[in-house]
Amino acid sequence: MPIYHKLGKIPAKRHTQFQKPDGSGLYYEQLFGTIGFDGMASLMYHIHRPTQVMQILDSKDLNPKLADTHQLMMRKLIGFNVQAKDDFLDSRVPLLVNKDCIIGLAAPRQSLREYFYKNADADELLFIHKGSGTLRTQLGNISFEYGDYLVIPRGMIYQIDFDTADNRIFYIESHSPIYTPKRYRNHFGQMQEHSPFCERDYKLPENLETHDEKGEFIIKIKKQNQLHSLVYQYHPFDVVGFDGFNYPWGFSIHNFEPITGRVHQPPPVHQTFQTDAFVVCSFCPRLYDYHPQAIPAPYNHSNIDSDEVIYYVDGDFMSRNDIAQGHITLHPGGIPHGPHPGAMERSIGKKETQELAVMVDTFRPLMLTEDALKLDDGKYFHSWID
Ligand SMILES: [Fe+2]
Repeated sequence: MPIYHKLGKIPAKRHTQFQKPDGSGLYYEQLFGTIGFDGMASLMYHIHRPTQVMQILDSKDLNPKLADTHQLMMRKLIGFNVQAKDDFLDSRVPLLVNKDCIIGLAAPRQSLREYFYKNADADELLFIHKGSGTLRTQLGNISFEYGDYLVIPRGMIYQIDFDTADNRIFYIESHSPIYTPKRYRNHFGQMQEHSPFCERDYKLPENLETHDEKGEFIIKIKKQNQLHSLVYQYHPFDVVGFDGFNYPWGFSIHNFEPITGRVHQPPPVHQTFQTDAFVVCSFCPRLYDYHPQAIPAPYNHSNIDSDEVIYYVDGDFMSRNDIAQGHITLHPGGIPHGPHPGAMERSIGKKETQELAVMVDTFRPLMLTEDALKLDDGKYFHSWID
């Protein structure tokens, strides 16, 4: 996250003595970084040592149950058929998986307050389709609502509060860090003028919660697809201040300013995030192409190198028929895809689209889980036949 941010109290100089105001000793500094000491990092200051593990409890296997590992079939998954569950972690349903990422859906009914959660395997990108609330983290809180992306860097300890029980989340766990697209950043990391969004749009953590509490605090830690439960002696939100570049942040899809042209613009203009292994694009309401002979619907294209996943959020998706909110389509690499019959003709002369969707293009093929097959409509691949 290439913006310097700070909250709370920090010493004037890093790695120096930072006295507690009551004279009881020093605060405990922790470097929270990625990619060894090479990636983005923050320095946080704890009231207590962050290493005080009291017990290591059971662990649970979270390896997704794979059903189809070598597939070449266009799929449509009916996402809202995913069952709502009370617990935030139990509600997560991994659907599409490869070595680089897990893509899934969740419909949690209750706020996460019983324990804390840390994903040590992956950065998490949560897209909020339904619901609102507050992401509460060690490094401050972010309020969220419909349309927000929440980026949670690996290792961040968090809880999440929901305002109501009706929540729908499309999520990605990424084994490489999630960044904004490099081509929009200048040498200094600042978003440039041709970027469809900029730093002013970001939701940065605020309202740092600092708890000085002794007890038994369970942190569920995901590591190597196992969920370990560790009991710590102090409340993990005991940070009095931090500064740096590595922290959770948010961005609303409604703040993505679409790039349009006289003729059809390719998918990279919709790009919102990048990793080493996939990109995420936002398809937002926008004016259509304005060449007098323009065809606003996309041309057929061969995604030889990547699998394309689209999660449909709202509006009419202009290139596809029979698509509803919460559907996920998968167009595997190796075969071309394109508009449904009639979609090209239908698009001619149209001035604008209200479509809202999130696309994930992975560079390695995706495998389907057993849960994904349960949501699969089974006939989508046939729907281009004359
Ligand atoms: Fe495509």
